[in-house]
This record gives sequence, C-alpha cells and structure tokens, in this order.
Amino acid sequence: MTDIQTLESKIQLNISEASDEAILESVRVSALGKKGSISLEMKTLGKMTPEQRKEMGPALNGLKSRITDAIAVRKSVLKAEALELRLERETLDISLPTRKGPADTGRVHPVAQVMDELTAIFADMGFAIAEGPDIETDFNNFTALNFPPDHPARLEHDTFFLPEREDGTQMVLRTHTSPVQVRTMRSQKPPIRVICPGRTYRCDSDQTHTPMFHQVEGLVIDKTANLGNLKWVLEEFLKAFFEIDSVKMRFRASHFPFTETSMEVDIGCRRVGNEIRVGEGDDWLEILGCGMVHPNVLRHCNLDPDEYQGFAWGMGIDRIAMLKYGMPDLRAFFGADKRWLDHYGFKPFDIPSLVGGLSQ
Ligand code: DAH
Repeated sequence: MTDIQTLESKIQLNISEASDEAILESVRVSALGKKGSISLEMKTLGKMTPEQRKEMGPALNGLKSRITDAIAVRKSVLKAEALELRLERETLDISLPTRKGPADTGRVHPVAQVMDELTAIFADMGFAIAEGPDIETDFNNFTALNFPPDHPARLEHDTFFLPEREDGTQMVLRTHTSPVQVRTMRSQKPPIRVICPGRTYRCDSDQTHTPMFHQVEGLVIDKTANLGNLKWVLEEFLKAFFEIDSVKMRFRASHFPFTETSMEVDIGCRRVGNEIRVGEGDDWLEILGCGMVHPNVLRHCNLDPDEYQGFAWGMGIDRIAMLKYGMPDLRAFFGADKRWLDHYGFKPFDIPSLVGGLSQ
C-alpha cells in the first residue's frame, strides 16, 4: 500500500511539474505505457494470492484511473496556457496596409471594358456575339456587302491589301466589322440577332484615327425587322451605355453600299471646352451608321429578300470609349504606356453588368 502511495505521489508530482504537453506525454508513457510503472505493477497481480489480489487489484485500478484523470486535467491546463501564450505573442496589426496582388495593380484596358459593357447591354436585349477573322476575303469585306467591283468606296476605306495569291485574289485586313454580318448570314438561319465586336484596319493615323481600331457591328434579320425596331434598339443601347435617362437622336440620310436606306445617327450633346457631355445640350455628335440591309447583301448571303429583311449598324468602339471616359487622344490607347493604363484602366473584378453597374 505504501508502495502504491509513494508511486502515486511521485507520478502526481511529475504531472504537476510537466511544463508542456510533450513532457506530460512522456510522464503518461512512463506511468501508463506498456512498460510504464503502473502497468508493471498491474502485471504482478497474476502472481499474487487471491487475497492479495483482492486487495491490490482495486487499489491499482484506482491508482490508474486517478492518474489518467490527473493527466487529462493537466493536459487541458497546458493547452489553455499554450494558447494564451500564442495569443499574447502573435499579435496582428490589422491597421497595416495589405500587400497588393495582381488584381489590385493590373488594369483592364478601356477598349476591353467598353466591349464588356456593350456585350452586357446587348446580351440583355437578346443579342448573341459573332466573331470573324481579321484577315478577310475581298468577297466578305466588299463584294458580298454590295461594293461594286473597282468602286471608289473600296479605296475610300484605305484598305491594307495582302500580297496577291496565285489565283490572283487578294486577302485584306478587314476594314470594318461588316464582313461578320456576311459570315453570320451565310452560316445561320434567321431569325438572327448578333453583335460583332472586333479589330478593324485602315491606313490612317492622326489624333482620332489609328491603323488598327475597333468597331462593333449589329445585325438583326427576320421577316419583319424594321426601322422602328432599329431606332428602339439604338436608343436603349445609347441610354444604357452612357448611363443616362434619355438621349436625343437625329437620323440623317447617308449612303453605305450595304444598306438601303442608309442613315447616320447623331446624338444630342453639349461641348464644354474640350469636353463633350452626352445627353444634354443642343449640339449634335455623329456616333454611328445604320440602315436596312440591302437586298443584294441578303442575296449574296443566300437569303431571299422577298422573305427576309433586317437592319444593321456599325460603330467605332474606341470612339465611344473616348467619349464616355473623356480620353482625348486615340493614339494613347495603343501606346502601351502603363501610366496611361493606370489612370484610365478598370479594376479587373469590376465586371460590367446591368445589375451591378456598367462603369462604377
Ligand atoms: N461598316 C461601316 C463603316 O465601317 C459602318 C456601318 C454603317 C455598318 C452602316 C453598318 C451599317 O452595318 O448599317 O464605317
């Protein structure tokens, strides 16, 4: 009995002196492990007389359970102490600025932003996106769009021609996004409702012209599409894009080979110094070309003009971006100057949507 008491007080002392969980664990192993002091005592039970065993059995079991409990209590105390220590040591200054990641420093180019805005607006009206290649056939860029052969309009576009091929034909860098109309009508059945944003090329360069620029084309073809529909689509688009409640529009007769009637659209604006404010004032600003698709274009696209009709429009993306975001020089768009992009670019996670807002 004295032995058991001595053993117990020795182990209890070790337990209370254990200063961390690792030491406590070694105390546990040395007492309760396979070769631990208590386990060894338990093994002696087998060799005892029944009377001795009757006395020692409960005593040893009691010892074992008291030690087990004491270890568990000490363990939770040590855990709490360790946590307290960590909390004291590991302070976090939440007033420090965070390190900037790519999403904070990278910027979305205004052209990409405006393309996303266009897409959000027209997708909401039920338009799909159609795309075509930058290098086009003369047929898709001109002939199918009702440009007569050797017509000066082909030259008006300041076309970049690629070297003549063996069969005598020449590919071109598309001068407008209108060839995507042709590709769409030749590959899809009406009803068609698409917008075609993309790069376009003309041999031209000054403050408002660059050899590569961006356009967006719109096309609607079905059996009844009419000018009233066109006007509504454009008006809704302009209001949504410029984020204004109403927009004044003026349709002027114009000429494009691929539309009949053809019109240019001006929107109401006010000029304040160099700045142009859309949606107010008595000035006008030309913004896009449009019209009813010419029957010859429908025929070139294997559609019967007696059955189908439609309207189309084309617009400079860079130009409406300059207008909306007050960027004065188009050439800076393609200058790859990071300072310009830092200033005019958009945060990558601010994805334009009609619900979340286009530009904020
Ligand atoms: N393709 C014309 C251009 O490059 C823009 C245009 C005008 C497109 C009228 C159209 C349209 O679809 O109907 O200037």
